Order: sequence, then structure tokens, then C-alpha cells
Amino acid sequence: MKENDSCGVLPLSFALSSYSVEKEASVYNFVNPGVISHSEILALYKSLIDPNHTYQLVNKEVLKTLIKAGRSDNCLDTTKLESALPECQIPHISVSIQDVFTRMKKNVRKNILLTGGAGFIGSHVANFLVERYSFYHVVVVDKITYCSNEKNLDPSANKPNFVFIKADISDAEKMKEIFETYQIDTVMHFAAETLVDNSFNNSNAFTNSNVIGTHTLLHCARHFGVELFLHVSTDEVYGEVKDGIPRKETATLTPTNPYSASKAAAEMLVQSYHHSFHVPVIITRSNNVYGPAQYPEKVIPSFLGNIRAGKTCPIYGHGQHLRNFLYVGDAVEAFDLLLHKGIIGQTYNIGVNNEHTVMSIAKQLHEILGKPMNIEHVKDRPYNDTRYVIDSTKLHLLGWKPKTSWKEGLKKTIEWYLKHGEYYWG
Ligand SMILES: NC(=O)c1ccc[n+]([C@@H]2O[C@H](COP(=O)([O-])OP(=O)(O)OC[C@H]3O[C@@H](n4cnc5c(N)ncnc54)[C@H](O)[C@@H]3O)[C@@H](O)[C@H]2O)c1
Repeated sequence: MKENDSCGVLPLSFALSSYSVEKEASVYNFVNPGVISHSEILALYKSLIDPNHTYQLVNKEVLKTLIKAGRSDNCLDTTKLESALPECQIPHISVSIQDVFTRMKKNVRKNILLTGGAGFIGSHVANFLVERYSFYHVVVVDKITYCSNEKNLDPSANKPNFVFIKADISDAEKMKEIFETYQIDTVMHFAAETLVDNSFNNSNAFTNSNVIGTHTLLHCARHFGVELFLHVSTDEVYGEVKDGIPRKETATLTPTNPYSASKAAAEMLVQSYHHSFHVPVIITRSNNVYGPAQYPEKVIPSFLGNIRAGKTCPIYGHGQHLRNFLYVGDAVEAFDLLLHKGIIGQTYNIGVNNEHTVMSIAKQLHEILGKPMNIEHVKDRPYNDTRYVIDSTKLHLLGWKPKTSWKEGLKKTIEWYLKHGEYYWG
């Protein structure tokens, strides 16, 4: 920790323009009166901007080992400056720093519209943002389809910086009203119909929510001049990767099923609004995400439910289709990073090196739950991509890397389902 110092902060502009200072050619200590320590500044930052900010103070001896140049306290006498500007009442340095932080807080506020926030990934992200950034206002919009659950948002429900609105993102009038009422400046767009199997039978619902819904939001984003439209897409837009070469963000999109086609179509609209109207967009394409509170229709929670209930796990075709699995906590960190450091106009893959066949997932889950393997091969999807492999170097360069091992992620997921069971969805 560095001890007390004088600093020049604010408001010094009035002093610069002051006639009396300009008139007298002289030397002034141009700082605020008083001293402040680094730890006091950090404490002010924590209380005024970010209560979750963590820092570590080091003593002078340790500091010497960290910084080669000698450091000393300084305290400048401001009597001369104060007497030259008697009408200005230059504030004490701690008052000025408080003022800076208060204004900074106003500047860093965000009014985030988070769509699909009662679903799996959206709710994890919404709860994280509400807790982590008390000075952001998070407005969750969700239609509450069969796979969503308002309980997913319980951790945020009573927080002053959170609002939940039940609405359809393709309802243009409602969306306009929400953007206007909540002065939305940031969109994080998770809402979508997400189950590939459903898309073979009910493709229109996918077009309505994933394409028309996205288009409606883009229109509002353009009209209200948002600062960021973060669009959540999927690795499935690349189509299957038979050659095993990890797809970079520049690869051609060749979706093979109505779900991935609707996601690719939505991306095209997002790109077009960026190019034509300069809407500041970022697109993400992630691997399969797993973790607590995922509706039990996706492979891991559905197998878990079947195994626990003593039912057979259905395996499409030969069960050798490969998928990469990303833990939801790591996905949340990627979205947090992109919200703050993502580069406008860019697309980012969010991928891990954690590939398993569907058959292997069934085997691992039976083993962990101590049950004999109980599977049944069923008719495969009309088309089932064999594999998705993506290159996430771009996101790594921005500072993200997954922290949760497969073992740890599965453990947390299984514990959650053992505790909440399928009754969670009623
Ligand atoms: N889960 C994954 O493995 C995965 C992987 C890559 C990308 N994604 C993408 O991430 C996003 C979130 O996925 P998820 O797994 O959390 O999905 P989910 O199905 O759990 O949640 C989607 C949410 O969107 C809501 N929704 C659907 N249509 C809507 C509409 N018209 N208006 C308002 N709300 C609507 C649903 O009610 C639901 O709460 C999706 O865009 C999905 O394509 C998911």
C-alpha cells in the first residue's frame, strides 16, 4: 500500500480559467488540498461503483520488491493556490474523488434488455449480471414457453436493478414500449426456440421467434440507437464438421436443420443491420452448454431424469455423434467478457475441447449414478450432424478460458438435478 499522497483531480478547470492565476505569473502547487491513500481510493471505488471489487493491499516492504523505483509520500501545500482563488473553494481531494466516481457510475450504467432470460443460459447470465453489477439495470423479457421457468430468476426477483416482463420478442409494439420505457442501451439476445428435434416438426415457431423476433429487436435497436446488440448464436450454424478442422468465425455457414438454419438466418439479419445501419453488434457461436436448470429435453438432463426414474435412455441411431460440452458458468464468463470487452462488428466462437459421443454420455451418467447401462437405439433425426468443432482463439486472445473441468461441471449439474428433480418444471 502506498501511503498518503496529494493529487490533482477535479474540478481544476475553473482554476485554469481563473483570471487571478493567469494574471500572476507564478508557481502554484496545482492539486486539491489534503491527501488520500490508495486504499482510501479503492474503498471509495468499492462503495460507490462496484461493491464486488476485490483488491489486495501490500505493505511498504512488499511494495519495494514489486516496484524497482523508490516510492515516497508527497503532500503539497495548497495555501498559495487557495488564497489566489478564494471564491473557488477547491474541494478536499477525497471529496473530488467521490465526485469523479459518482459521475463515473452514471457513465458506466447500462440498461440491459436480456431476452430469453427465463430459459437456461439467459437466466444464468441475468442472475450473474444483476448480482455482479448492481449499477446495471437488467430487464428480462421472456415469452415463457414450455422450457422456461420464472423460478430460474428467483435470485434476482427482489433486486432493485431487475425487472421481468412476460412478452414475445416478435411483438413489435411491446418491444418498442420496453425500449422506450427502460431506455434500453444494451441488448443481450438469448431468446429462441432451441430444440433441434422440435424444429423438424414445427419449423414456423422457429422462424417466428428466431428470425422475426430477432428482426423486431434489431429494428428497435436501430431506432433507439443502442450501444451494443449482443446476439447469441450457435456452433450449429457451421453445419457438421466432417473433416475435423476447427471452424474459425470466418467459415461459411452451412446449417443442416431448421433450427440451425433459423439461427443462421437471424445472424444474417444481425450482420445486415450492422453494415447498413451501423447497429453495434457482436455475435457469439457456442458449443452445447450444460449445467443446472437446463430443461430436461437436452441430452444430459434428459438422460439423468431417465436413469433416475429407471427408464431407458433413447439413443439416436448409432449414438456416435460427437458434441462438445461447455459448462454454463464458463459461458456466463464469456458473455460477461464480451459485454465489456468484445469488439463491435465481430463474431466470437465460444468453444471447449470436451468432446463426447452421445453413447459415451449415457455410459458416463449410468456409471456416476451407479446404475446398469439401460439404453435403446431409436430412429435417428431426419438429419443429425456428426460433429461440430470450432476454433475459439479469438475469444482466448480477449482473455477468456474455460475454468470448469468436465468432471466438476458434471458433478455440479448432477447435484442440482438430484436436489431439484424434474418437479422443478411442474
Ligand atoms: N443450450 C445450448 O447448448 C446452446 C448452445 C449454443 C447456443 N445456444 C443459444 O443460446 C440461447 C439460449 O439457449 P438456452 O439453451 O438457454 O435455451 P432455452 O430454450 O432454455 O431458453 C430460451 C428462452 O427463450 C424464450 N423464448 C423463446 N421464444 C421467445 C419469444 N418469441 N419471445 C420471448 N422469449 C422467447 C423461452 O421461453 C426460453 O425461456 C439460444 O439463442 C440458443 O440458440 C444454446
